[in-house]
Amino acid sequence: VIKMTDLDLAGKRVLIRADLNVPVKDGKVTSDARIKATLPTIKLALEKGAKLMITSHLGRPTEGEYNEEFSLAPVVNYLKDALSCKVTLAKDYLDGVDVAAGELVVLENCRFNKGEKKNTIDLAKKYAALCDVFVMDAFGTAHRAEGSTYGVAQFAPVACAGPLLAGELEALGKAMLKPERPMVAIVGGSKVSTKLTVLESLSKIADQLVVGGGIANTFIAAAGHNVGKSLCEHDLIDTAKKLAAETNIPVTTDVVVGAEFSESTPAIIKSVSDVTDGDMIFDIGPDSAKALADIIMNAKTILWNGPVGVFEFDQFAEGTKVIAEAIAASPAFSIAGGGDTLAAIDKFGIADKVSYISTGGGAFLEFVEGKVLPAVEILEQRAKA
Ligand code: 3PG
Repeated sequence: VIKMTDLDLAGKRVLIRADLNVPVKDGKVTSDARIKATLPTIKLALEKGAKLMITSHLGRPTEGEYNEEFSLAPVVNYLKDALSCKVTLAKDYLDGVDVAAGELVVLENCRFNKGEKKNTIDLAKKYAALCDVFVMDAFGTAHRAEGSTYGVAQFAPVACAGPLLAGELEALGKAMLKPERPMVAIVGGSKVSTKLTVLESLSKIADQLVVGGGIANTFIAAAGHNVGKSLCEHDLIDTAKKLAAETNIPVTTDVVVGAEFSESTPAIIKSVSDVTDGDMIFDIGPDSAKALADIIMNAKTILWNGPVGVFEFDQFAEGTKVIAEAIAASPAFSIAGGGDTLAAIDKFGIADKVSYISTGGGAFLEFVEGKVLPAVEILEQRAKA
């Protein structure tokens, strides 16, 4: 693909598609990770003398209408503080934007535009007409073929990859395509069903596949243990058995159980064979956590997606904490992605000790599944044409 870093942007109208889809509460951005990750791209384009516009979606508003709840205004306020240039928010921009070199115009939530999700040619051409250079930098939205990710890249005079997107592809490629071995993949989260393709894909690549959270319960049941009232997908037990037979999946020997899903329910450590009908498994036990930490310490590549327990509740956070700290202490190349994983990284304060933290949720998983990201594919096509 063509890279933004290689282009002369001086005096050009440049449109960046970023993923500024951040959580907002009471008009304030509550997690700025995605904005922070995009700042270097914005600053570089400004330094290169671009007449700069940036577009993003925020949330999932009803298409075709303005809705204050999903406005990018809080993001604009954040950017005003973070940048030293003039930053404005444009609401009506499809017929052209007035922007000077060294300024930034934020285009209001692209999902307010009719045709954005369906990627209509009409809208794509309007976006394309706004710019001389289109920069795709929204890794987190690269799995969506929408007007502002795919359509505009088809019709813009030049379409290139921004530094964040290029960096994500490089880091993920390093972990998935040519990992230094041994490679350990940790997949947690609540359901096997939503991560099945991820598990299947990683089972072929990783030397060891660690399952955690609700996903592990289905594997524990597949090994013939009682999982009590725990979250467990009984219809996927055969799938779990098959994966466990084909892949090196460390077995869980002990667990932490509670009587109900609550912040105050007491935690009890049990051998995995002692779980009773009334128990709910909410974390891995200390022996299992220690065994996983050893595996992590000996790995050369680590891919982490999903917590191994209900880490939001302190009494069930220890397993995820041990894993997070092992990843932080390991000399391996480590890559982490997904919303819950980032929340765990924040909670345990290990952000600067993970080699690469992806800004993608769904996009990260689709890459790991081996799927082609449409918004990247179109950049490749444009580069060849
Ligand atoms: C995300 O948060 O994963 C991306 O911003 C994509 O958002 P979407 O799932 O609403 O398309």
